[in-house]
Amino acid sequence: MTSIQTAAQPAAQMLPDGTADLFRQLWRGVGATVALIATEHEGARHAMLATAVTSVSMAPPSLLVCVNRDASAFAALEARGAFSLGILPAAQHGTGAAIARAPGAERFDHGTWQTLDAPERRSHGLPWLAETEATLFCTVDTHFDHGTHCLFIATIETAIGAAPQDPLLYQSGRFGRFAEIAS
Ligand SMILES: Cc1cc2nc3c(=O)[nH]c(=O)nc-3n(C[C@H](O)[C@H](O)[C@H](O)COP(=O)(O)O)c2cc1C
Repeated sequence: MTSIQTAAQPAAQMLPDGTADLFRQLWRGVGATVALIATEHEGARHAMLATAVTSVSMAPPSLLVCVNRDASAFAALEARGAFSLGILPAAQHGTGAAIARAPGAERFDHGTWQTLDAPERRSHGLPWLAETEATLFCTVDTHFDHGTHCLFIATIETAIGAAPQDPLLYQSGRFGRFAEIAS
């Protein structure tokens, strides 16, 4: 019988059962692509970074974004029912970090913000960042609350850019990029 050699593992550490601390402590190490969400409502622009984003379906082409209801962008996202979702390239980590640090409307002082000109679409007038590798313009189909967050399921109405080649990632409080493992 052959035995399987595994890399040395640190001793398993017992963590507190079912707490937010447990989840936060583990999940911060998982890592995810950084999305830049932006919307406009009644003349005011709002933006935030989000990693709680996933694709949902190709028919219709749709995705899910989880937004804390305490976020300053939340009310506008809910009321407008449309947002842009940009994928920053890793090279724009400085812009991402600056947007993360800036409060409220000052997030629009970083990078080159544009306005979508598509009068026939619900996403007409949405702000988007020119430095993104790709930006999806999304309209909300449904949203519902779970705990502290609101889950927005949105259809992709239109998009600008191309498939991201080097997306900005976030893991354990740090920005980074994907590294292929030679096989
Ligand atoms: C890398 C990163 C990822 C984040 N992901 C999310 C997310 O998925 N959902 C969310 O509600 N807030 C997320 N946040 C926090 C928001 O971007 C924002 O900082 C927070 O809502 C506070 O914004 P406010 O000052 O406008 O209220 C993330 C922050 C960072 C830096």
